[in-house]
Amino acid sequence: MKFPPWTNVDEAARLLAEGQVVAIPTETVYGLAGNAYDPKALAQIFAIKERPTFDPLIVHICDIAQLNDVAKDIPEAAYKLAQSYWPGPMTLILPKKDCIPDLCTSALPTVAVRFPAHPMAQEIIRKAGVPLAAPSANLFKHVSPTTAKHVADQLADRGLAGIVNGGSCDVGVESSIISLVGEIPTVLRPGAITPEMVERVLGKVAIKESTSKPGQPMAAPGQMDTHYRPQVPLFYGKVPAGTSLPKNTVRIAFGNTDGPIPATLNLSEKGDMLEATAKLYAYMHDLDLPEYDLILVDEIPNVGVGMALNDRLKRASLKTLNGDW
Ligand code: TXA
Ligand code: MG
Repeated sequence: MKFPPWTNVDEAARLLAEGQVVAIPTETVYGLAGNAYDPKALAQIFAIKERPTFDPLIVHICDIAQLNDVAKDIPEAAYKLAQSYWPGPMTLILPKKDCIPDLCTSALPTVAVRFPAHPMAQEIIRKAGVPLAAPSANLFKHVSPTTAKHVADQLADRGLAGIVNGGSCDVGVESSIISLVGEIPTVLRPGAITPEMVERVLGKVAIKESTSKPGQPMAAPGQMDTHYRPQVPLFYGKVPAGTSLPKNTVRIAFGNTDGPIPATLNLSEKGDMLEATAKLYAYMHDLDLPEYDLILVDEIPNVGVGMALNDRLKRASLKTLNGDW
């Protein structure tokens, strides 16, 4: 096998149809894809990522009609949201059909479904001829990949059959997850489709605060407090006055670069939230190097897609800055 195992859309679709696991681009982050109907392929996804099987996978489809193949009792609200925001960075939680193996959903009676906007993702799903289960293509609890190189760096030698290079992810943060199985539509994970955007289509929505319950199927995603962590300690937010910082501290700024530590990278000089979202994970990967002791990230306003960045950064952050540098 070539190494890293780069491949193309047609070959990827063939490998997936054969039951193999392939990393594919989507507009949010790269996914580690396998046939959603095939428990062996699903088991391989969990193994490659070292992901515990209590953390269920998202199933990717390539048109709205395919929703019927994987979900049942689909409420009108699902079609309304699908028509507004699919294809795109939105995942819906719906009652699952029996054809979706329990391994995919961690034995939950529901399935997470997304119709991605990336044209290569759509073509791969269509040509594979089956819905594709795909978590983010990173090791469990690590930072999600937004380029094919990020995937190769973390996973190339772990037995996946191919990696498709579809460039940098435009959105850069995982999809918004919206549950449609409870009384009110509930945002389980914030993303680029904001609660306001969901409200515009459905009226009132609830927002689930995440809490960890180790060992149980996660009814809300990415709940573990230590999700999305780089290897270098990261601190998100204002550094308390008088804190002594290690020598090799680097800083990811957002807009304004004033402050005692010079900006190493800037998420958006103009303070543009979408630009910041597209760059955040790439910057976390770029600065995750042994020569650095600490990554500081400036505070980002907690509005719109900024809620998704705050959610991920709070989980990535040290709780306090009292290290023995
Ligand atoms: O943007 C994305 O959503 C990317 C790309 C590849 O599509 N995928 C992604 O997958 O972020 P992953 O596995 O890293 O995160 C999926 C989350 C998990 O944390 C899981 O807990 C949640 O979705 N999830 C899956 N099925 C669920 C269900 N039935 N009910 C509630 N949450 C579910
Ligand atoms: Mg993930």
